[in-house]
Amino acid sequence: DRRIKIAPSILSADFADFGREIRAIEDQGADWVHVDVMDGHFVPNLTFGPPAVKAFRKHVKTFMDVHLMIAPVDPFIEAYAEAGADLITAHVEAGPHIHRTLQAIRATGKKAGVALNPGTPAEAIEHVLDLADLVCVMTVNPGFGGQKFIDMTGKVRKLRQMIGDRPVHIEIDGGVDPVTAPLLVAAGADVLVAGSAVFRGGSVANPEAYGDNIRAI
Ligand code: DX5
Ligand code: ZN
Repeated sequence: DRRIKIAPSILSADFADFGREIRAIEDQGADWVHVDVMDGHFVPNLTFGPPAVKAFRKHVKTFMDVHLMIAPVDPFIEAYAEAGADLITAHVEAGPHIHRTLQAIRATGKKAGVALNPGTPAEAIEHVLDLADLVCVMTVNPGFGGQKFIDMTGKVRKLRQMIGDRPVHIEIDGGVDPVTAPLLVAAGADVLVAGSAVFRGGSVANPEAYGDNIRAI
């Protein structure tokens, strides 16, 4: 369905209170929970291993969208599937075999996503669209929340055209806020990741701010 889904990224949440933060954003209307896995190699930051994702799983009632910013990615697919991911996204830039990587994700029974950094053309994934349930278009260079949006509307339009009537989500990730979101939805995106734009001004003590922020996007 083309209803727009909002997937708050817990990279912007309170790292001392993930359980309550996850429950708060879901109570306040999050459609998915976006989990940013970073290895300090593919991106210059380090976040969540499989044990952490397993702990998050206990609190996620909606849908756990796990974004693997790691290379190599194949050795960890099984572990994040076991940890309870509902969808696992790998970067096309993480290695030479994205076709095999997507096959490996699908073999775990999970949904499969492929992510494109801002410098990577849409054509890079043209030959794996039949293996993808989602294409994640990075609108920042990955590694951190709160970065400045990089306009990728042209790439989103091209992807929507390439996808045609296949059931493939286009997810936008990075710098999404009430100003940038409408541009991307108009271009064909249907899942919007937002970290700082959801968590800013709120807390587990003031979760209503999360709901206001989600509705504003
Ligand atoms: C960046 C991550 C994004 C990030 C989004 O590498 O993949 O999901 O957390 O945060 P904002 O919405 O603040 O740009
Ligand atoms: Zn992400």
